Amino acid sequence: MTTSTLNIVILAAGKGTRMNSVKPKVLHELAGRPLLAHVINAARQLDPDRIIVVYGYGGETVPETFKDENLTWVRQSEQLGTGHAVQQALPALAEDGKTLILLGDVPLLNVESCRKLLQQTLQLGLLTVRKNDPTGYGRIVRDAQGRVNAIVEHKDASLQQRTIDEVNTGIMAVDSSQLKSWLSRLKNHNAQGEYYLTDIVSLAVEDGFSVASETTSDESSVEGVNSKQDLAGLERVYQLRKATALMQAGVTLNDPFRIDIRGDLEVGRDVEIDIGCIFEGRVSLADGVKIGAYCVIRDSSIGAGTTIAPFTHMDQVRIADECRIGPYARLRPGTELSADTHIGNFVELKNTQVDVGSKINHLSYVGDTTVGKQVNIGAGTITCNYDGANKFRTVIEDHAFIGSDSQLVAPVTIGAGATIGAGSTITKDAPAGELTLSRGRQTTISNWKRPVKVKR
Ligand code: UD1
Ligand code: CA
Repeated sequence: MTTSTLNIVILAAGKGTRMNSVKPKVLHELAGRPLLAHVINAARQLDPDRIIVVYGYGGETVPETFKDENLTWVRQSEQLGTGHAVQQALPALAEDGKTLILLGDVPLLNVESCRKLLQQTLQLGLLTVRKNDPTGYGRIVRDAQGRVNAIVEHKDASLQQRTIDEVNTGIMAVDSSQLKSWLSRLKNHNAQGEYYLTDIVSLAVEDGFSVASETTSDESSVEGVNSKQDLAGLERVYQLRKATALMQAGVTLNDPFRIDIRGDLEVGRDVEIDIGCIFEGRVSLADGVKIGAYCVIRDSSIGAGTTIAPFTHMDQVRIADECRIGPYARLRPGTELSADTHIGNFVELKNTQVDVGSKINHLSYVGDTTVGKQVNIGAGTITCNYDGANKFRTVIEDHAFIGSDSQLVAPVTIGAGATIGAGSTITKDAPAGELTLSRGRQTTISNWKRPVKVKR
């Protein structure tokens, strides 16, 4: 098999007036990533020699957003039409092989349809779709034999042509050397005074070539985003597809319409996810994990059999097997929980490692701390890790017991098996196995009167 050069041009210069936003349209996000990122991702799967992005509105913000990616950027300073946009890319195009033209605002693009289109294309091929309401789209005009003759834009179409329901998706495959010659012949004598890329179809027919076409039945895969309603609509399509794939993998979703995956979610067997959860970045849930309602989980891994109760928030966290977390827990970056740990309501952990079987069940802040095995941290415990300028670590060794409402002023170590009396402020290391407390002795003052309000 001979492999020929493949260049991909992504058109992304438009403003997207109907988005009603200062942000360029292609930077609006679907599933937590810019629209253009979805298109680039699809383009990469076709293994092209080069991806060229035509940008314009919004200036350098678009290329800056993708500065770490290997892309060729071409600026179209004035948006004079889709044909003009592709003209700007010509200097960056290879002399031979094929060019695939994609749109930066069509995020759910189907890679298989593009592959089929490329396979069929000799000089020119179009990806088309049938629409119940084709208003606004370029119509595919065919002759009596069904051969493609031209694309006529809605605004230029006759009433009879407007009844055609097969439309141009905007996605085309073109022989690169032909593309150069056709683009040089474009005129802007049309209803919009623009250089239409779609006019290359009649030029190809004039030159005696037959135009290939591939018709997709998956409308969402060629749907462009023009408004916030379009964006929300495609977001739901995307999310329902993700939810369906999860269920096919054996996950129980209480409601597939109420889950949002903004990244990659990896799952084991018999995972259960209740409603309203958001997964961001890379998240993995091992066998039998249960996630309660309304949790937000980002870049974290959760071990087998662990239960996360509702309203828990976690970011960059590693949790081992058989833990019980939440409800209302907040686990911040650097939290690592060993097996069988319990973290309860209104507990915030940051950069803290908790060893096997330890419990922090109520209303605590534990930061920059190493917690040993089988430790019990009472309600309202605070590690004072910050002196206003520097952060220090707290070490709580195996089997320690921290009484409620204690402050551990770091740097400090609580020895193995030590007990801290409730309400203590611990500023020096507490020895292993002993009871340490900092409270004054309890006294009662007889005949003490509560203050009364002074009348002025
Ligand atoms: C275009 C097609 C139409 C097709 C429709 C599908 C043309 C002339 N018409 O129409 O046949 O049915 O898409 O959605 O091609 N862009 C630039 N620079 C420009 C103009 C546009 O980069 O000067 C980009 C836009 O950012 C957008 C894409 O090209 O991503 C399509 O442009 P748009 O103005 O939306 O074209 P339509 O009129 O919808
Ligand atoms: Ca459009």
